Amino acid sequence: EKGGYPDFMLKEISEQPRVVRDTLVGRMRGGELDIDELGLSYEELDIIDRVYVIACGTSFHAGLIVKNMIEGWARIPCEVEAASEFRYRDPIITPSTLVVAVSQSGETADTLAAIRDARIRGAKVFGITNVIGSPVAREADGVIYTKANKEIAVASTKSFIGQVVSLTLLALMLGQVKGKLTCGQVRMLFHELGDTAEQIQWIMDTQGAAIREAALACKDAQSALFVGRGVGSAICYEGALKLKEVSYLHAEAYAAGEMKHGPIALIEPGFPVIAVTTRSPVYDKTVSNLKECEARGAEIIAVATEGDEEIRAIADHVIYIPRVRDCFSPITATVPLQLLAREVALLRDCNVDQPRNLAKSVTVE
Ligand code: M6R
Repeated sequence: EKGGYPDFMLKEISEQPRVVRDTLVGRMRGGELDIDELGLSYEELDIIDRVYVIACGTSFHAGLIVKNMIEGWARIPCEVEAASEFRYRDPIITPSTLVVAVSQSGETADTLAAIRDARIRGAKVFGITNVIGSPVAREADGVIYTKANKEIAVASTKSFIGQVVSLTLLALMLGQVKGKLTCGQVRMLFHELGDTAEQIQWIMDTQGAAIREAALACKDAQSALFVGRGVGSAICYEGALKLKEVSYLHAEAYAAGEMKHGPIALIEPGFPVIAVTTRSPVYDKTVSNLKECEARGAEIIAVATEGDEEIRAIADHVIYIPRVRDCFSPITATVPLQLLAREVALLRDCNVDQPRNLAKSVTVE
């Protein structure tokens, strides 16, 4: 069943290039983006003036990643909230609000309760799920299915990639309908999105040794910090969750610019700081935050863009990912963090497929 892999987690991480391809297949017809199960007409999409993405756990992190795309491409405000918070407050919802529920299982109790409530308040509801006919799929006006296939490891990996790709399609669709993206721009972005399949494969094929070396540096730590800026900080939330879940090593994610407002007090010699420092407009800012950690003796593990030699001056370990448009870097940069979490867990003798205290699907509150 594991197809020759030692565990489901590695098998599922390895399937990610296929998930990208399958989630995109058939979505571009005659040069136009086509989401046939969208369930919302162009007119209904055109009136949308606010988007809430609601989800839990890893699915919530997929939402954090797409916020900038929805705001940047469609120019409408997008908030991303944990379903367990959203459902107990009084959010501003009108008939022109789109609530997007993201759920691998399609049956998470808080996510379901949140969309039921949003519908009663008049919102349009859209689902992103991996399970055909699941409650989220049935109760939403429209749905995009992630094509991850069954995910067995409790820690979500391949379905996260499917979610980010699907949410990106939705953001492209909104940008197109709102007239903020031209057809040519949509086509170009769509193709670049598809290129991430090969880029993930490149990481899997070439970065194993660097990831194992970085894992050794984390193995005996009490705690680790993940830092990044922009979409880099959203990736960090997922990296920290993965590490906590499978290795039981305490990890926290911080926007790098927030370090000096408190977390830097934690840094002492040998403290692991995992930094997402891919080439982006905020690269220099992140590097300057890292220098402050380096000066205090942190053990720095950087996820950097291939060809970036400069980063070696401050990082103890460097894991490379291919150069990619900033908005798509979460799809590639998450992969080394998944692999790092798994390696640390194995070094600490943890069961990576079945972490303690966790269930694959959380159908109770
Ligand atoms: O099925 P869902 O996507 O709604 O599940 C949400 C979370 O329970 C899930 O992502 C959880 O955080 C995973 N264990 C993460 O690896």
